[in-house]
Amino acid sequence: MNEKILVLDFGGQYNQLIARRVREQRVYAEIKPYNKITCEDIKSTGYKGIIFTGGPNSVYDEKSPHFDPKVLDLGIPILGICYGAQLLAFMAGGEVTGAAHKSEYGNTALYAEDCALFEGVPKTSSCFMSHTDYVSEVPQGFTVIATTKNCPVAAFMDESKGLYGVQFHPEVTHTEYGKAIIHNFLFRVCGCVGEWKMEDFIERTAEQYKEELKGKKVLLALSGGVDSSVAAALLYKAIGDNLICVFVDHGLLRKDEGDFVENTFKGEFGMNFVRVNAEERFLSKLAGITEPEQKRKIIGEEFIRVFEEEAKKLGKIDVLAQGTIYPDIIESGKGDSAVIKSHHNVGGLPEVISFESIVEPLSDLFKDEVREVGLKLGLPKALVFRQPFPGPGLAVRVIGEITKEKLKLNKEADAIFREEVEKAGLEGSTNQFFAVLADMKSVGVMGDARTYGYTLALRAVTTDDFMTAEWTRLPYDVLEKASNRITNEIKGITRVVYDITSKPPATVEWE
Ligand code: XMP
Repeated sequence: MNEKILVLDFGGQYNQLIARRVREQRVYAEIKPYNKITCEDIKSTGYKGIIFTGGPNSVYDEKSPHFDPKVLDLGIPILGICYGAQLLAFMAGGEVTGAAHKSEYGNTALYAEDCALFEGVPKTSSCFMSHTDYVSEVPQGFTVIATTKNCPVAAFMDESKGLYGVQFHPEVTHTEYGKAIIHNFLFRVCGCVGEWKMEDFIERTAEQYKEELKGKKVLLALSGGVDSSVAAALLYKAIGDNLICVFVDHGLLRKDEGDFVENTFKGEFGMNFVRVNAEERFLSKLAGITEPEQKRKIIGEEFIRVFEEEAKKLGKIDVLAQGTIYPDIIESGKGDSAVIKSHHNVGGLPEVISFESIVEPLSDLFKDEVREVGLKLGLPKALVFRQPFPGPGLAVRVIGEITKEKLKLNKEADAIFREEVEKAGLEGSTNQFFAVLADMKSVGVMGDARTYGYTLALRAVTTDDFMTAEWTRLPYDVLEKASNRITNEIKGITRVVYDITSKPPATVEWE
């Protein structure tokens, strides 16, 4: 693969978005923290262009991130964004001023001049600003190519050197022509042709790990969720049987899910796959526990313990693999993004297993990109488009104490609900849908007899980010069908209700 853009990370909050916007244009982008790459590395890698990201600092602050000014003379085009633009101006000898009294935040009108960067961008459009300092004087040889009401230098360039700076954020959707601006930088300024495909990512990553992990034993905790599954498939392509997947089935998965995961990875892929059936063990630990946080804690701890025990049986493990994806990575916020914190689905990292390093093959990708990789690697659609599922599983959907009986009722009811939503072709119209078994019984009547059984709640939510959510307006007839089937087919549930609470005030899960 030839074309590559370097996103030089100065600690901005939109850095991953920048890389994503570049990849959307079929150009590969690589993010590197500013202090983890040198001018020499940049030159020898042969990047087609560099994007300096934003960052929370001020260029005059001694502790603020800076970069070797020689980068401006490598003959590689640069686009500086926000702090990156200020830094570019500063490095080239321009002036940056603190504008505390008139800092700009939000959407504002951008007045743009004709130039390669603004090809196809109208004279007046809307851009998104978020800054305090601003470039007050452009360096020698540079010209101003855009302004806003409060910002005399909203964009500037030295066309002959391919150096561009924009004070606003072209990577966010609020900037009306942001996509066009990034496109122009890539194709008109850097001369990219847009040849990158997801297949390239797969091939390149597999090659890289084949080399890097040669002769090493790699262990991956496979949950059956999208991320760990795709990570497994990708690493399997790279290192085959040296990848060992351990799947801890805590018995709190949805109906038949454990078998499905096993059939996929062991059956279809033929992976080195260890399934640990630990239902009894988890249920005995959970016996008598009703407090939600305590349930979660027990499951998290037990999960790690089971995983550690299995890992020990495998002998020496060199590397631990994780399905961390880009949004899981939390930046330090200091431009020193090498210090990252990984997100873990259940519990934390095992402490007892010793390993040399951790690999996270999906750490540059967004969820939809991860799904694309999964499909290209031949994972089944049901797995790749699986709805989010909490680490503690059905433990947070069986309210109160978890018993085998209640767990079974929930699994059966959930399967029926999912089947009805899918039959109606509505899986795409809701982001998460499931059954919750309440810890209360109510009276019913069946035939001529009185019944007394559990109350089951159906829950479906519509959301972008799961931080807030609306309850999904599922059609009444679908709800009716699911309710009828659940009460008819499952002995022990007498009443079905639909959860019409949004988040906030409720959460998506009941516990
Ligand atoms: P809440 O209930 O917090 O859920 O509104 C938001 C989203 O997060 C999922 N969820 C979890 N995921 N471990 C996870 O991996 C957990 O402990 C957990 N709790 C909730 C939930 O399913 C929803 O998608």
